[in-house]
Amino acid sequence: MGNVREKLSSPAAARNRDPILDVLKVTLPREGTVLEIASGTGEHAIHFTGSLTPLLWQPSDPDRACRHSIQGWWWDVQLNNILPPLNLDVRDDPWPVETTPPEQPITSIVCINMIHISPWEATESLMRGAGRILPKGGILYLYGPYKENGEHTAPSNEAFDRSLKERNPEWGVRNLEDVVAEAEKNGLTLLRTVDMPANNLSVIFEKN
Ligand SMILES: C[S@@+](CC[C@H](N)C(=O)[O-])C[C@H]1O[C@@H](n2cnc3c(N)ncnc32)[C@H](O)[C@@H]1O
Repeated sequence: MGNVREKLSSPAAARNRDPILDVLKVTLPREGTVLEIASGTGEHAIHFTGSLTPLLWQPSDPDRACRHSIQGWWWDVQLNNILPPLNLDVRDDPWPVETTPPEQPITSIVCINMIHISPWEATESLMRGAGRILPKGGILYLYGPYKENGEHTAPSNEAFDRSLKERNPEWGVRNLEDVVAEAEKNGLTLLRTVDMPANNLSVIFEKN
């Protein structure tokens, strides 16, 4: 990676990274490449890969400033199990990893805090891509706030949902059942959910 040091920082990532890592440690396959969708600042990638070796981690984000930030954080640690960030928008078809696959096959996909901060189309595309790419037994890990049976699970999530929709009417906290239905259309079965701090959920799917 180049010597680009425009590091961005996310207070939310600093708070949620350890609880997420605890779940990833018992969820991700032990071999292959993890494709991270919407890596954002890159702080998760750096934090997780120190503990998840020898898995390879492929960060990605469609935002150029984020990709520079990922490179900046990488430069500090220079971990050789993190690949250079890809410019990947889930709405692309095919995804760049389909035309140029990583040396080790992708066995899991991790996507943290994206599906509520993007139009529903992004969730549909994420599920289609995961369905295309993951091998049988491959894992899709999602993290974020969810409604359950159409209801918010906490007043703070309801307020967050309102603020998201003010920023963009197409954004919003998703209904878990809708996300599961979209996954099932693409050959992904819900394995389990894990309650996380601050009324978030880990949502884990397996490819059939
Ligand atoms: C709230 S940030 C989360 C970043 C990081 N995962 C984290 O938790 O700190 C949302 C991220 O989703 C990315 N994103 C939005 N739309 C996307 C799309 N269509 N495909 C891939 N990433 C997208 C944005 O660029 C941004 O980095």
